[in-house]
Amino acid sequence: MITFDLAALSAADGYKLLRNVVTPRPIALVTTVDGDGVVNAAPFSFFNAIAFDPCMVVLGLEARPDGSPKDTSRNIRLNREFVVNIVDHAAAEKMNLCSTPLEPGQSELPLAGFTVSPSSLVKPPRLADLPAALECVRHTTLELGNLREIVVGEVRAIALRDDVIDPQNLHVDAAKLDTIGRLGSNLYSTSRDQFALDRPDGK
Ligand SMILES: Cc1cc2nc3c(=O)[nH]c(=O)nc-3n(C[C@H](O)[C@H](O)[C@H](O)COP(=O)(O)O)c2cc1C
Repeated sequence: MITFDLAALSAADGYKLLRNVVTPRPIALVTTVDGDGVVNAAPFSFFNAIAFDPCMVVLGLEARPDGSPKDTSRNIRLNREFVVNIVDHAAAEKMNLCSTPLEPGQSELPLAGFTVSPSSLVKPPRLADLPAALECVRHTTLELGNLREIVVGEVRAIALRDDVIDPQNLHVDAAKLDTIGRLGSNLYSTSRDQFALDRPDGK
């Protein structure tokens, strides 16, 4: 083993190791609205589901290189609400286009070619055609200095495309969901290569 003491590495090198080792990461394509009602969409892979009852997710939001907050961060501070859209393989390139840095007040949606549908409980809409969306309300923001924050969001509603969910037994069809994950560098994985493992306690 080669062990790196992160105190001896630059922040950039620590980040490089972290993001290339913690893989694959799920991708939240987050929609928010600004004070004028402009819909913003941006992908975040410092993202995961972390609790249930109530269901909670986290987002790790970095500032822009000039130190100003990203639109997603600004909009969540403004009105607390956001939607995590789950990205399938078909939407990978459109998701990537949503990471284009645009001026505040400019929407990534026309650039990426996404259309929206209304959410049920929150103001930010979900992205139409994506297989699932989590309607969230900010619970807590952990500020890590001035340049990054962790937003903990409570999931108030989960919307699933009709073909993905069996409403009788809540079975989610993973093949239809077809999620992608973030690997290191510019690489992504699909969720198509699967194997089963039963838990030793049978649960
Ligand atoms: C796959 C992917 C994952 C990303 N993950 C993050 C992340 O976890 N945190 C972050 O601050 N930026 C992340 N980014 C960069 C943001 O998407 C990018 O800065 C975007 O312009 C922010 O948009 P906004 O200013 O509209 O919020 C990621 C980009 C891509 C393509």
